Amino acid sequence: MSIPTQVYQCRKCGSSPLEVYLCKYTPFSNPSIFIKSLNIQITPSRPFASLTTIVLPGPAPPCMIFSQTHTFWPRTNTPLNQMSKVQKVSILGRESIHVGFGIHSHIVEETLTNEKSSTYVIITDKNMEKTAPFQNLVAAFNEQLPVLRPDARLLQYSVSPGENNKSRETKAQVEDFLLLKGCTRDTVIVAVGGGVVGDMIGFVAATFMRGVRVIQVPSTLLAMVDSSIGGKTAVDTAVGKNFIGAFHQPRYVFVDVAFLSSLPARQFINGMAEVVKTAAIWNEAEFTRLENFAKTFIATVTADEIDLLSIKDAVVQTVLESIKVKADVVSKDEKESSLRNLLNFGHTIGHAIEAIVTPQALHGECVAVGMVKEAELARYWGILSPTAVARLVKCIAAYNLPTTIDDKIFLSAVGHKRHFIENNTLLDKMAIDKKNDGSKIRTVILEAIGKCYQLKAHEVSKQDLRFVLTDETLVYPFNKSAVPAESVVVPPGSKSISNRALILAALGQGTVRIKNLLHSDDTKHMLAAVAALKSAEISTEDNGDTIVVKGNGGNLITCDEELYLGNAGTASRFLTTVASLVGINKESNDYSILTGNARMQERPIGPLVDALRANGSDIEYLNNTGSLPLKIKAGKGLKGGRIELAATISSQYVSSILMCAPYADEEVTLSLVGGKPISQLYIDMTTAMMKDFGIEVTKSTTEEYTYHIPKGIYKNPEVYEVESDASSATYPLAFAALTGTSCTVPNIGSSSLQGDARFAVDVLKPMGCTVIQSATSTTVTGPPVGGLKALPHVDMEPMTDAFLTASVVAAVANESTPTQITGIANQRVKECNRIKAMVDELAKFGVHASELPDGISINGISIDSLKTPSLENHGICTYDDHRVAMSFSLLALMCKDPVLITERSCTGKTWPGWWDVLHTKFQIELDGYEEPLDVSERQSLARKAKNGQKSIFVIGMRAAGKSTISKWMAESLGFELLDVDTVFEKSHGDIRDYIKEHGWPKFREIEAQMLKTLLNENTVGHVISTGGGVVENAESRDLLKAYAKSGGIVLHLERNLDTTVEFLNSDASRPSLPGEIEEVWNKRRDLYHDCSNHYLYSIRWSDSTEAAHLKNTFLGFLDHVTGHGHVPVPHKRSFVVSVPVSDVNTYAKQLPEISLGCDAVEVRADLFKEYTPSFVAKQIALLRKYSSLPIMFTIRTKSQGGQIEDNDKLVETLSLLAIKLGVAYLSVPLTEKESTLKKIISQKGFTQFIASFVDASGELSWTDPEFDNLYNRAVTINADIVQFVGIAGSLQDNIDLEKFRASHTDIPLIAYNRGEQGKLSKIMNKLLTPVSNQIIKEQPEFEFTVVEINKAFGDIGGFFRNKFAVVGSPVSHSRSPFLHSALYKQLGLPYEFSTYESDNADEVFEKLMSAPDFGGLAVTIPLKLDIMKHVDELSESAQVIGAVNTVVPIDGQNGKFRGDNTDWFGITNSFTRAGFSSLDSAVNGLVIGSGGTARAAVYALKQLGCQKIYMINRTVSKLTPIKESLPDFNIEILDSAEAVASAEPVSLVVSCVPADKPLDETLAQNLNSLLTASAHTTNCHFLLDAAYKPRVTPVMQMAEKLGWAVIPGVEMLVNQGVLQFEIHTGFSASYHVAHDAVFSE
Ligand SMILES: NC(=O)c1ccc[n+]([C@@H]2O[C@H](COP(=O)([O-])OP(=O)(O)OC[C@H]3O[C@@H](n4cnc5c(N)ncnc54)[C@H](O)[C@@H]3O)[C@@H](O)[C@H]2O)c1
Ligand SMILES: [Zn+2]
Repeated sequence: MSIPTQVYQCRKCGSSPLEVYLCKYTPFSNPSIFIKSLNIQITPSRPFASLTTIVLPGPAPPCMIFSQTHTFWPRTNTPLNQMSKVQKVSILGRESIHVGFGIHSHIVEETLTNEKSSTYVIITDKNMEKTAPFQNLVAAFNEQLPVLRPDARLLQYSVSPGENNKSRETKAQVEDFLLLKGCTRDTVIVAVGGGVVGDMIGFVAATFMRGVRVIQVPSTLLAMVDSSIGGKTAVDTAVGKNFIGAFHQPRYVFVDVAFLSSLPARQFINGMAEVVKTAAIWNEAEFTRLENFAKTFIATVTADEIDLLSIKDAVVQTVLESIKVKADVVSKDEKESSLRNLLNFGHTIGHAIEAIVTPQALHGECVAVGMVKEAELARYWGILSPTAVARLVKCIAAYNLPTTIDDKIFLSAVGHKRHFIENNTLLDKMAIDKKNDGSKIRTVILEAIGKCYQLKAHEVSKQDLRFVLTDETLVYPFNKSAVPAESVVVPPGSKSISNRALILAALGQGTVRIKNLLHSDDTKHMLAAVAALKSAEISTEDNGDTIVVKGNGGNLITCDEELYLGNAGTASRFLTTVASLVGINKESNDYSILTGNARMQERPIGPLVDALRANGSDIEYLNNTGSLPLKIKAGKGLKGGRIELAATISSQYVSSILMCAPYADEEVTLSLVGGKPISQLYIDMTTAMMKDFGIEVTKSTTEEYTYHIPKGIYKNPEVYEVESDASSATYPLAFAALTGTSCTVPNIGSSSLQGDARFAVDVLKPMGCTVIQSATSTTVTGPPVGGLKALPHVDMEPMTDAFLTASVVAAVANESTPTQITGIANQRVKECNRIKAMVDELAKFGVHASELPDGISINGISIDSLKTPSLENHGICTYDDHRVAMSFSLLALMCKDPVLITERSCTGKTWPGWWDVLHTKFQIELDGYEEPLDVSERQSLARKAKNGQKSIFVIGMRAAGKSTISKWMAESLGFELLDVDTVFEKSHGDIRDYIKEHGWPKFREIEAQMLKTLLNENTVGHVISTGGGVVENAESRDLLKAYAKSGGIVLHLERNLDTTVEFLNSDASRPSLPGEIEEVWNKRRDLYHDCSNHYLYSIRWSDSTEAAHLKNTFLGFLDHVTGHGHVPVPHKRSFVVSVPVSDVNTYAKQLPEISLGCDAVEVRADLFKEYTPSFVAKQIALLRKYSSLPIMFTIRTKSQGGQIEDNDKLVETLSLLAIKLGVAYLSVPLTEKESTLKKIISQKGFTQFIASFVDASGELSWTDPEFDNLYNRAVTINADIVQFVGIAGSLQDNIDLEKFRASHTDIPLIAYNRGEQGKLSKIMNKLLTPVSNQIIKEQPEFEFTVVEINKAFGDIGGFFRNKFAVVGSPVSHSRSPFLHSALYKQLGLPYEFSTYESDNADEVFEKLMSAPDFGGLAVTIPLKLDIMKHVDELSESAQVIGAVNTVVPIDGQNGKFRGDNTDWFGITNSFTRAGFSSLDSAVNGLVIGSGGTARAAVYALKQLGCQKIYMINRTVSKLTPIKESLPDFNIEILDSAEAVASAEPVSLVVSCVPADKPLDETLAQNLNSLLTASAHTTNCHFLLDAAYKPRVTPVMQMAEKLGWAVIPGVEMLVNQGVLQFEIHTGFSASYHVAHDAVFSE
């Protein structure tokens, strides 16, 4: 073969010469390409294009690195030609599987020689066709064909890659190709590719001409070991994967491992899942080999350059071993009737997950999670040991595969789709798995690694599946008849004993079998370290349950690698002394390095190092003094003699030296200095265990806390059984106590050195249990259920961990005295504050407990009065604390109903199998539980929790409006307002005087202290307004930053500088600022930005209307940032108007007009003339001042048709600023770096993130897989919305787009084509279609307005529910038709509005509502009540008001209707438009009348913030039912002149009595006096008369005379109509148009 020397290719994607293919798997990385040897960087003309041509300047270098992910090198140097020997595996009686490396010539020869044909067709996918191995294969075919089969022809065809294309459509394309080329029955198809190609082409072969021969050449690891073997072929359908297919055995499977050289790392790893699976079910030896291979494998495949040759043999072996098993199993059971099922281990659950998250997650990734869950199921059934599960999990994780769906690896792939993985969905998917008979679910149950239980699949109940699938568990009440009367439980080994046993064994001489060892991080790291130092040989027996340590008598030597200890504290302490014993390995270093993770590098080790140094060891801190990493010089040994150690901090230092002391040069005397050593029990444990290993330590008789350790070598006993953990043992023992049964822990007794071993005797016995304890065993028998006694006082200092168990037992110890436990203060600083946790969680059972200074007091209650914690309140919280979880799982048994225990997996820390013991040993029924998900919350995984009651800090320059805005916030949230300055003055007097006397620095210092106190004491329910200069103090800044980081709100307020200066100059009451204001501002500006996570620029208001608007927008901002009222993604047809200008000021005032009919306003940040925070903030403030619509903040980069450079830091800066400013939508190019996008998304709070892609060059068609990739990328990064803009060259492009839209529904999609031809796509787009407006001069070509789109959509029949009517009697004079019709016309809506005279609701229902084109009703008298029986749901206002005036069909629910009432809005908006603002907080209202409108008025006044609502009526008795039905409205009935006289003044009055008759005399008098009194005392008074005939009513006349502002009833009519229109159509309405229509005649 001759290959031109200038040809280069990418190793990973195999892309060919000067065409650089941007690999599909890593399109997320920086699209620019770096050629290292030439030192140049090339940016392709367009990122994400499928093909990019790069012209290399200059001659070809020998090796080129193209970015991180593309390694190019001359193809002539390719090592792929080094052919290895071919190994053959037999399947179904034929040696048809051939495995090797670089065997393409062999493939060609075998095929052409043995499979005679006139036509050979090589079919592959478009990724593969570019790879070197594939091209080698084709070249070999072309070379050999003329020689071996001169008469035959070779055809080639490529399909689009990816699971999406494993479809009936693609199959048909291939078939058409074959037919077109005249292929016949003798055709041989060579399928080269991954499982997708293999499955689909295999199926083509199975049915083409009733079956032709196929040869499989798998190119992915998965295909090599799994899909190509066994003859299963299939395509997918929308309903399920692989649902259509056939068994069709290939003639040959040629596995050329060289193909893997171009396989992306993720695909490589994906295949390992199947490999691990096969070993797990069949071959323990192979599994062990895989465990050992993991590290090398991962290092190799994830390296920038895959050096496949270095692991070639291991990979060939891996593939071969896996194939052998599969071939063997298939040969025994070809059609999957029994044995072949075993290959489905992990697949029952894996497939169900895959069905939801494909294509974001790969098959192997889902199977990996499935294997873990199915192994847990086997453990839950008591069949598979916990160690075996741990082993499997560890191995899967070692291959970088996910072990749970919440694994980082998995989450980063599936993004928000995680939310769709709900238990019920999974169970449904499992029930339709085609491997089932009927809907019974079957899984493969492992019995051990390498062995399946009973060699078949087992039926499994949904309940058991639910249990393993979730972390939330329902614990059912125990059933006396099911629970065994006597049981024996061996809890996992003690952690402390396990750690010591390992060190002693590793230093000892001889072989010891350690049983019941606790597998923890400590033991894991210790085992690895002692093995690395050649201290001992480690192996396992009994499937990992027994650890065999062959000690080397204390002869250790240095190793090459650093000893990494993660965060394993005990390991680090024990190994530090061990490392001083290490001798020099001449071929390695003369030192050892101990290191750990970041947390570890902060934990103390100083006292131990000091002691060792003083004894001659040479230890160096490599990083922080006092912590790991340590460099310990080898070959120095431990000198010995007298060693002094400070032992008041950790007993582990003591144990560490004690255990190594026998190996010192001189006999050691260890003296513990500094007072009484901490945890004497643990020191005693160490010396006792040293004795078990043959070294006897003696305590000095003359010196306190001093030990003599003889020289010697530990003698390893044959077997060392690690005593069970005594804290863990308290749970089964307490189980016996609570349930009146008997339980034995056979390996803990009175001789135990663990403090918690006393629990049975010291706690359970006095509570009424029978306890029999020998030296090595403990048996507890509980009294009959309900017979436990309280313990007046117990000091649990020696067994603090057991207090939680004691507490739950005490909870049902029914006696008048409480149980008091003391000596447990340390439990406040464990995994959680355990004392508080117990008090809080016990309360959920109705058990009262309280905290004592160093303990807890529990008032036990009878079992009968025990409450079941409610599911609504999320059951029992476990605080991620294993002991809390285990304790409450016991108390749960005593309740009447199942109790929810959350986060059950936290028991994994010490007892992962606890639940299995409960279930299998104690026969307790358990079930999984899943909180019903709030659909709106599904939107985004990154959605942070609502801010709840967390306090809010306000910072900013003085005069930025902090006091006003803080006050608004406090009022609106019901928070208390705290002003730091005020607090200061309370304790230190006047600020100005203070500063004069003590100076600014002192003031700042005190201010910082105060801030700290305020922060600690007022974490919830406060708005804390700070002085302008807080940010000048570093400590204060840190406090604020930390608060913001923890999720609290720190709001930075800013106001235009001129305004600030003006304001400050006019205010003499404040201390003068140090320095000129501007200077101060410049100094502080960045500091404010740094410390805050929200930012609001307030524009000055000039009158109360503006202030009211400002307040409303501000409260909207507050709702957004706290998450209480953020803008959801619209469900209806929605529009966004773009204002693409450099300064919004240009159009600000016209915004209401411009945005008519729209749902959001878009600004283009990249077009802004400045990018400073202040300018941007001001732009947002301007938008908010003139529009209340949600804001879309769009950033476009150059490649996306915008102004900012691609991948400029500015994109991130502007995005984060927009989030701070609380915009509703943020649109960022999807072409930005993944790290940038992820960072923005992680901080987006309640802003909806739009991932946008504009095909600016117009090269992509909607059928290009690139759009698919981009969409999946958006899903992966967790975008809320995707926005794709293509370009249309023909109408067909719009049709292609619609197909794309229909098949991409994971996250909401905005998609349309630009260009004249693209208009159709804009009409069809439903979500946030961009529109323009005639007013905007910058409007782009072909831009539509809302009206145009509506008209066009109407013309093509888009609006089908277009008939509206006003119903009631009489309606002939109704103004509604005029109002609605005018609004329809204005927005181009093809709706009709008519009148329908009727007093019969049934008739209205039949004639109007039941019609298919029914759009909605306006309802008037007398139907407002009657119509309610025909609606299916009611709005809040309709419920409160008790009447319906608006009816609409419910979207998506045929034949269902919703009733609403807009009368209240008619009232509120009339007041607001007339100038009322709710800035005055203390307003009261008055309603005259008692009818339906009066109820609406009460509702309206409440909405306007009235504190008291007075009611007055001719017939007072009619008011009582209203008052009674609205208890929260603070209604007061004015039933007499006296009551009127003593009423508080009112500001808002609504008259709801008929106006065509004169007012009742008494009523008129009372009203008059109230209006008169109020007019004098309040400064705002508005009266609205709901009656609109006559235009001026008697009440209005009276009010006007008294100086009240009066509003006529038609206003109400117009305003309620505006809202009604919005409810009917989903569009916002123009008040002016509505108003004019009502008044036109
Ligand atoms: N028939 C069976 O018994 C069986 C068993 C397991 C899985 N499957 C099926 O296999 C499919 C998954 O197969 P897969 O994991 O191989 O995925 P795949 O076929 O989609 O291949 C993964 C990706 O890697 C690319 N690729 C393949 N080989 C490459 C190479 N050597 N270099 C560079 N790129 C390469 C492909 O173009 C594709 O984009 C699923 O459809 C699954 O249902 C079938
Ligand atoms: Zn599989």
